[in-house]
Amino acid sequence: MDSPEDISRYYKKQYRIYDATRSFFLFGRKELTSRVNKNSNGKTLEVGCGTGYLLNQINSDEPYGIDLSYEMLSVAKNKLATNVCLEQTTFLDYNPENKFDNIVFAYFFTISFGELETHIAKAKSLLNSGGRIYVVDFYDYGNQLYKKYMNWHGIEMNPSLLSQLENNFTTEHSELHSAYFGLWKYFIYQGGIS
Ligand SMILES: C[S@@+](CC[C@H](N)C(=O)[O-])C[C@H]1O[C@@H](n2cnc3c(N)ncnc32)[C@H](O)[C@@H]1O
Repeated sequence: MDSPEDISRYYKKQYRIYDATRSFFLFGRKELTSRVNKNSNGKTLEVGCGTGYLLNQINSDEPYGIDLSYEMLSVAKNKLATNVCLEQTTFLDYNPENKFDNIVFAYFFTISFGELETHIAKAKSLLNSGGRIYVVDFYDYGNQLYKKYMNWHGIEMNPSLLSQLENNFTTEHSELHSAYFGLWKYFIYQGGIS
């Protein structure tokens, strides 16, 4: 999508049906959560936490979530324990006092693909030395018709997302999966920073 305003408008229309509908196509989020929970010591941030689906399953001593959408965060607030620190902000405007040990992105990068490089640079700037990034996201479309449909929803899939992650972090784990007999592919990525 083009701007934070467009994204905010989109989720204002979607937040009521979000939890009921997304399990049919946002695959890999449970697997990503299990990975985070193996290393969840310290401070963990989810960027674009939406309605709190992942934060509800992440066992962290100090969980944080940010999202630009007031409506998505209002659903998260009702669902999550009170120790989860939530803030309404865009990622690029977020200026926390301390850095994080783990940063999680679930279906975040492909919704604002135009900002990919600045978003990766921001993630690097917010990670402690020895910290980790965890990402699940779309990898590529299976055909042109599906591409048109997803672009209409503001999603841009491009295999360069995974290469950019691999270029910027030390890859600890990377896996590709096919959804609905090849309609699209998605990936799960874990990387470290020295
Ligand atoms: C596809 S949803 C994913 C939500 C959640 N991670 C999940 O897996 O259910 C993308 C979320 O990212 C948020 N978002 C998109 N761009 C953002 C940005 N630049 N800063 C903060 N939040 C953003 C949207 O408001 C939305 O809640």
